[in-house]
Amino acid sequence: MQNVSGKKIILGISGGIAAYKTASFVRLLIKAGAQVQVIMSPASCAFITPLTLATLSKRPVYTEFEKSFGEWTNHVDLALWADAMIIAPATANTLAKMANGLCDNLLLATYLSAKCPVFFAPAMDLDMFIHPSTKSNIQKLVSYGNIEIETAFGELASGLIGQGRMAEPEFMLNVLNEYFSKNSSNDLKGKQVVITAGPTYEPIDPVRFIGNHSTGKMGFDIANEAANRGANVVLITGPTSLKTNNSQIKVQKILSANDMYQACHDVFESADIVIGAAAIADYRPKTVATQKIKKNDEEFTIVLEKNPDILASLGAIKTHQFLVGFALETENEIEYAKSKLKKKNLDLIVLNSLNDKGAGFGKPTNKVTFIDKDFNIFPQELKSKEDVAKDIIDQILKNYAK
Ligand code: PMT
Repeated sequence: MQNVSGKKIILGISGGIAAYKTASFVRLLIKAGAQVQVIMSPASCAFITPLTLATLSKRPVYTEFEKSFGEWTNHVDLALWADAMIIAPATANTLAKMANGLCDNLLLATYLSAKCPVFFAPAMDLDMFIHPSTKSNIQKLVSYGNIEIETAFGELASGLIGQGRMAEPEFMLNVLNEYFSKNSSNDLKGKQVVITAGPTYEPIDPVRFIGNHSTGKMGFDIANEAANRGANVVLITGPTSLKTNNSQIKVQKILSANDMYQACHDVFESADIVIGAAAIADYRPKTVATQKIKKNDEEFTIVLEKNPDILASLGAIKTHQFLVGFALETENEIEYAKSKLKKKNLDLIVLNSLNDKGAGFGKPTNKVTFIDKDFNIFPQELKSKEDVAKDIIDQILKNYAK
């Protein structure tokens, strides 16, 4: 697996002839399992089309502050989303603006908002490259903590031979891979982690079911985080539109609570850590009609029977496994979460309450409270689900070490 796998990369393209090479760079990143968001300076659109890059990156490409009339491209959100930003090609003009804090386009505003590591790959003609202003701008950018991807020597667009060619896409990919390899903690290396995600669908008839609002995002983000930290992950998920292309994650799709029960028990013995983020239906229709039910009566009653409690069943047979549950509550949150922790024989519970704005189903954010086996309580801030996933893994490792 490549180290960029699962990473979120912003590729900022400025207006130089080397922009044509970004098509193969995007392909390499996507093939390596990265998510790529392309942001182009207006000048770069003369060298390669946004459509080409949108097709290759499988995402819309942003070029302007305004996406369409009245819809703003939020450069702060984009910058916070990314694990790394790479500006390639970085022209003399864009380097000068970056070095001096100018932000007259979306790419530069995103750069100024970025908290992630920023790489830049200069590309220009040799005399521009050796000009003292360019040299000083590059030095300034490096002194700010940005990482320069060195230019290559060779034939330039002018026909001259010299230093100033943008590094090749394969080289830039290697730089990113090496960076993530050095900076990944690998603290879950060798661990088998089983994660449940999404809703379950309990069929009523061939066209209807009982379900809930879970999108699967919380579980998928935990799976990505665990895989990025070296775990082998089995992700057992109910119906969702989410996908993962991280080769460390084996996805198993299920429909109902009974399917999920079976899938969890099949892998439980070899698991080291199990995290139950799925919203599993507590009840299912007692009988499932074989044909579509007709609307003949004014009232219609469905008799429900209890589904198995999956985590409780795992808690009852666990030997070495570290078992983590979620609690989704609407009242008496801490008390109910503690009671679930105990009843299901969990090692840790992650409480989220629908009373907290931005927490729970469907949203890109969550606000959680950890409660450990000794009933120690650790409330957390509202964060992106990606960051909540990091906190969950950190908390598990703290408790696991004990
Ligand atoms: O998917 P998203 O849109 O990102 O939303 C995330 C989420 C809100 C679904 C997630 O953060 C969450 O809270 N998941 C658990 C939801 C839930 O069903 O909570 P619960 O309190 O009803 O269940 C407690 C625990 O027991 C959960 O870990 C659940 O997976 C598990 N359970 C529940 C029922 C059952 N029959 N078997 C179980 O194992």
